[in-house]
Amino acid sequence: MSNIAHAPAPSAGSPVSRVDGRLKVTGRATYAAEFPVPGVVHAAIVRSTIAHGVIASVDTTAAQRAAGVLTVLTHKNAPRLPYHPQKAGPDPDIGERLHVLQDNIVSHQGQPIALVVAQSLEQAQYAATLVRITYVPEPAVTDFERTKPAQPDPASRYPIETRRGDPVAAFAAAEVQVDQRYGIPREYHNPIETHATIAAWEGNRLTLWDKTQWVHHTADQIAAVFGIAAQDVHVVSPFVGGAFGAALRAWPHVTLAALGARVTGRPVKLVLTRREMYYGVGYRPHTLQRMALGASRDGRLSSILHEGMQETSTYEEYAEALLNATRFLHSCPNVHTLRHIVRLNVHTPTFMRGPGEVSGLFALESALDELAIALQMDPVELRLRNEPQHDEFKNLPFSSRSTQECYRIAAERFGWSRRNPAPRSMRDGRWLLGWGMATATYPTHFAPASAHVRLLPDGTAQVSSAASDMGPGTWTSMTQLAADALGLPMDRVTFTLGDNCLPRAAVHGGSMTTASVGSAVQAACRQAREDALARAGVDDLTEALRRLRQPVEASVDSRPGDAAQRFSMHAFGAVFVEVAVDQDLGEVRVRRMVGAYGAGRIVNPKLARSQCIGGMIGGVGMALMEHAVVDPRNGRVANANFAEYALPVHADAPAVMDVLFVEEQDSHVNPLGVKGLGEIAMVGVAPAIANAIHHATGKRIRELPVTPDKLI
Ligand code: MOS
Repeated sequence: MSNIAHAPAPSAGSPVSRVDGRLKVTGRATYAAEFPVPGVVHAAIVRSTIAHGVIASVDTTAAQRAAGVLTVLTHKNAPRLPYHPQKAGPDPDIGERLHVLQDNIVSHQGQPIALVVAQSLEQAQYAATLVRITYVPEPAVTDFERTKPAQPDPASRYPIETRRGDPVAAFAAAEVQVDQRYGIPREYHNPIETHATIAAWEGNRLTLWDKTQWVHHTADQIAAVFGIAAQDVHVVSPFVGGAFGAALRAWPHVTLAALGARVTGRPVKLVLTRREMYYGVGYRPHTLQRMALGASRDGRLSSILHEGMQETSTYEEYAEALLNATRFLHSCPNVHTLRHIVRLNVHTPTFMRGPGEVSGLFALESALDELAIALQMDPVELRLRNEPQHDEFKNLPFSSRSTQECYRIAAERFGWSRRNPAPRSMRDGRWLLGWGMATATYPTHFAPASAHVRLLPDGTAQVSSAASDMGPGTWTSMTQLAADALGLPMDRVTFTLGDNCLPRAAVHGGSMTTASVGSAVQAACRQAREDALARAGVDDLTEALRRLRQPVEASVDSRPGDAAQRFSMHAFGAVFVEVAVDQDLGEVRVRRMVGAYGAGRIVNPKLARSQCIGGMIGGVGMALMEHAVVDPRNGRVANANFAEYALPVHADAPAVMDVLFVEEQDSHVNPLGVKGLGEIAMVGVAPAIANAIHHATGKRIRELPVTPDKLI
């Protein structure tokens, strides 16, 4: 096509396809386990079969003698590691990470207790079966339902208790009351790519090809574990095959790979099996919540009492943001929130897909639906009557909030006005149809990040920041933002990420990458462009670079200002769903889903839609399928595999998925006006589905997932 050279530069705001799409579909994108490292040998982990106790004896004789085995490491012979303190955002504030192979104490089922390194993977796996361990078991506390909750450590990141007004008295005096319990089981991230690390030492310098959502954090953590400088740990992680929070921390297997490599003097590859993904890379904690709402007959909330308890391990206290959204999402003068922790012999849970908000909103938005029914009021109307003018918890204005617009456009697209509110009033043959909705919110985070740009005389640009891309499209959105800021076509811009030799980026989590890394990329590109134009004395960048005949570089550290002290900053949304429930078999199909989001500026509508669809389907999994069955006797996960831990596949995705974005110009959140996507698309889905199921069947299910046995 002859007009390509004159076509306007596709830049920020354009629905361009992924710049790394071709690499991915042709299998040339290299994931952690795929790096061709010469001389690599293989490791397998032996894991505890008890949940609590001590290792009494270890016999590695047979394993040591097995073919191809290079070493068998246990707490008896593994090098002592310094494990210097080192924590950052994804690490729990309280407690200390698991120290692997350092002593004989077993704190949870599946804890790594030996590492076998052999020439081949098969040899390592076979020899691992020959390691003989005896234990002195101690009583294990693994039953979430029957363990007495404890008070969280006051030093953890979220408040234990908050109160405004007199919520108990207001609830007692309320004309209409809802007071219910909501349960969410443990859930696992289950990315398609299992965690993998290849570790290679050269003297005191370590290279890790690793699956991680934050290369710098992995380097910092492993450096602290081994007592070496962070600059001596090189972390390479250009592609991540899904993670959803599971790769925010450097979990014990990364240390084990490095330890195996140190002892054998060979590069060691350690790839977790699918089963191992359930015993050491975190999970969404099992939660139980009480949600009590009091309201006047005209539908004004007068009291909210929200209590939540969650599981954590004995060695770390991971705190889930269960109660955060309750404090500001709807207007209410009297609000009490209270958090409990249940310390169990399990491994530490972590952030997963809309962590905290997604669980808390299941309770809040389900309870609001129950309140709407008690009031005989439309659930959208109930929410509109309780729309706050500002954040009543922080007592700050919202930087922007488009909930009303989200309700309006999503309801219109969905056809909500045609809804008959009576349960079991709509059907399609043997299928009962139900329509439900919920509000969504997720905080807008903006974290420090740095970027570098190098403009070359040939008119091309190399831009870099040590970000990650676990799937949302960071490779692409950063290329777009750079091209936009430089005024160059996208095909002249190369963006590089996923390596800690690049400028430090924010963690690739909490929906903050575009805002944080994008702000740094934009600033660096603008600075380099201005510099080049000023030095060349022309106003065309390509011409300027040609004239200068040498590269022009800029590095920028982007730092958040004080906006978080002046504004309450969140993305908001609304999700409407149609379900069909088989009246005899209880099978639920989600037929249609409409999500509307006020998420600030949208850098790439195509990838944004794709990411929102992913989040919405994640919500289908949470609502209808995901459930790790933990044996209360011993902490074993009975369904630690893809056959029995059900997740949505294409056939489970709704045939109609509409993603709508409210145009928002929010100059407070960050220089780009981006609020972040991903988590916001997931948070309202499970309650919207449960509400739709109630509408279809008249049955209120308060314990996820809503499986057929709960409906028949
Ligand atoms: Mo996200 S759960 O912060 O990867």
